[in-house]
Amino acid sequence: MRLLTPSAGTPVSSLDILKGLIYSFNQPTITLESVIKTYTNKKYCYFTNSGTTAFYVILKALRHISKKTEVILPAYTAPSLILPIKKAGLKPVLCDISLKTFNMDIQSLGKCINENTLCIVPVHMFGLPIDMGAIVKIAQQHAVFVIEDAASSLGATINAQPTGVFGDVGFYSFNRGKNLSTLSGGCIVTDNEEIAKGIESEYASLPKLGLKSRIKIAVRLIALAIAVHPLFYTIFYNMISKFKYTTLHTDFDSFVYTNFQAGIGHALFKHASNIFNKRYDHGVFLFDIIRGLKGIRLPELLPNSVPVFNQFPILFEDETIKEVCFVKINDTGIESTKLYPAPIHRIYDFGYNLDEDPFPNATYFSRHLLLIPTHPIMNIEKLSVIVNIVKGGIVP
Ligand SMILES: Cc1ncc(COP(=O)(O)O)c(C=O)c1O
Repeated sequence: MRLLTPSAGTPVSSLDILKGLIYSFNQPTITLESVIKTYTNKKYCYFTNSGTTAFYVILKALRHISKKTEVILPAYTAPSLILPIKKAGLKPVLCDISLKTFNMDIQSLGKCINENTLCIVPVHMFGLPIDMGAIVKIAQQHAVFVIEDAASSLGATINAQPTGVFGDVGFYSFNRGKNLSTLSGGCIVTDNEEIAKGIESEYASLPKLGLKSRIKIAVRLIALAIAVHPLFYTIFYNMISKFKYTTLHTDFDSFVYTNFQAGIGHALFKHASNIFNKRYDHGVFLFDIIRGLKGIRLPELLPNSVPVFNQFPILFEDETIKEVCFVKINDTGIESTKLYPAPIHRIYDFGYNLDEDPFPNATYFSRHLLLIPTHPIMNIEKLSVIVNIVKGGIVP
């Protein structure tokens, strides 16, 4: 039987599950909240059911402080970021990305800012740190807020400080595809008293789930913990694929993170450095071999930063070769992905003139990108199979 390896996965052991259960009935003195506060060295920390809700709560909090309405974000990123912006009654403004860093193009950022700009949302795409020093400097020059989207970059650092701590406020995601997953979940961190006050008033209105819904989440989390293992993933593949997102979300639910998920998060954080190091090592292994290949572009890493590869991004100059590699890799049973099929300006109509592409790099990215899994369930043997396919595609 050919075993399948999922594109994403955090190994959650039965001991982690047991610890999660104990935590949910009897919280220890050092809670997940205190663990994250220590990790980020931030004064305030709030947990939500998702990164999307975390972002929404932050945006609503900023509305308490400012009447400005424009939110700048990269033109190639998670399309779900648009929903909370709209729900908060704000206007998304897109900034192209850089084909060098694979993150928001800081050179283009200045042109997107005007007197109505509320905030900039730099995203550490794929776990690759963006230059937060440069972004914070631009934000300060224009007196706008920075909401740091570290949804995919938990564990990554810049100058030995974790991503998520550099903006006025930052957030993480614990969804099933992220660096550390508790099925779903989000977390906000800040030191800013005014923002924290706004967050607290929004947070107070978030519902807490009833027992039945909490049990449902707990069962799904345990099922996911089992399903990420190649043997079970293979056996239950047909059932699991029904739970995969295939369509664009049009709305999102908001509620408070459950105690059981916090308990699993707490248990996972104890060995988080192992998880992050494996992702880093897998990424570096791919980087060192693929970097010299013709027809391929890899991201330039920010100096003094340590990425935690959420997935390993490869840009193929030739779209056909990318497609061939995608099929061949997936034929081996390892799930590579192409992630977002289109950049934000081609998914939503924000009135941009598309005849002359306003964000050509974002469009190029959506067509030429292939993502290789780097999670701890991958190993050097599997990565070598991928490397050989990529090499074979480039050198026919
Ligand atoms: C960069 C980025 N920001 C925010 C989110 C939203 O997080 P969540 O799925 O937890 O709502 C995602 C999710 O994929 C993401 O990739």
